[in-house]
Amino acid sequence: MKEFITLDMIDEAVSEVKKRTTRNPEIALILGSGLGDLAESVRPADFIDYKDIPGWPVSTIEGHKGRLVIGNLEGKRVMIMQGRAHYYEGYSINQIGFPIRVMSRMGIKVLIVTNAAGAINPNFVPGDVMIINDHISLIAMCGLNPLKGPNIDEFGPRFPDMSQPYDRELIAFASEAANKTGVKHREGVYICLAGPSFESPADLRFLHMIGADAVGMSTVPEVIVARHANLRVLGISGITNKANLDGSVVTTHEEVLQAGKALVPKLEKIIRGVLRKL
Ligand code: HPA
Repeated sequence: MKEFITLDMIDEAVSEVKKRTTRNPEIALILGSGLGDLAESVRPADFIDYKDIPGWPVSTIEGHKGRLVIGNLEGKRVMIMQGRAHYYEGYSINQIGFPIRVMSRMGIKVLIVTNAAGAINPNFVPGDVMIINDHISLIAMCGLNPLKGPNIDEFGPRFPDMSQPYDRELIAFASEAANKTGVKHREGVYICLAGPSFESPADLRFLHMIGADAVGMSTVPEVIVARHANLRVLGISGITNKANLDGSVVTTHEEVLQAGKALVPKLEKIIRGVLRKL
């Protein structure tokens, strides 16, 4: 693998996907840890394993199926990533953005991204849904920006605007869908760390101080690449655990997966409502 991703590499993946489906998706979804079950209601569908797409980062961790599900949901043509790869799995930060580049070249204009996250905001509890209204790209500030390297002008400018990473109209649709279906929800700021270790109590107090409501290990790199290519983005966090601000709570991946499963019906209601509005 070359250090940086080229347009040829992206287009090779696009042609492989197109060989395996004749559907023409218009909206993409990324389903995070424990949230993959949402794709089970997409039928009829074409399934493409990530390992069959050249250049596509394959997830190695439990709770991520590792395939594309392409079909119809709420009358919309969708392409769903059932699981994702993370930076901590050993990929370069540029590789984490690769699927988004492929989506963009396939003509996708809207990205709905979900994740499992820990609550930093003391008012949040496991089982809550947080619609992301902004993010702190701490991971990118520390040098891990997925747009690092030669700019690919076909996608967007060298210095892309990031004044509205999450689309206000999509946030309104999501909030309306949640209200209509009785899903209590929050709005807040998501922060992405590199992982894989969870945060220390002092880490979490710092993240709280700088304005984060929820913490995770994904999403922000994908959103940066999506906004570079001018995709409209909706981000939703499923709060799976209380962050350990005073050192009294132990966080485990099993807990995150369990809580994620319980969040699926809530996220499904919101996502279906948003798709109907699009
Ligand atoms: N910290 C980081 N990532 C996470 C957490 C957390 O508490 N929960 C789910 N993903």
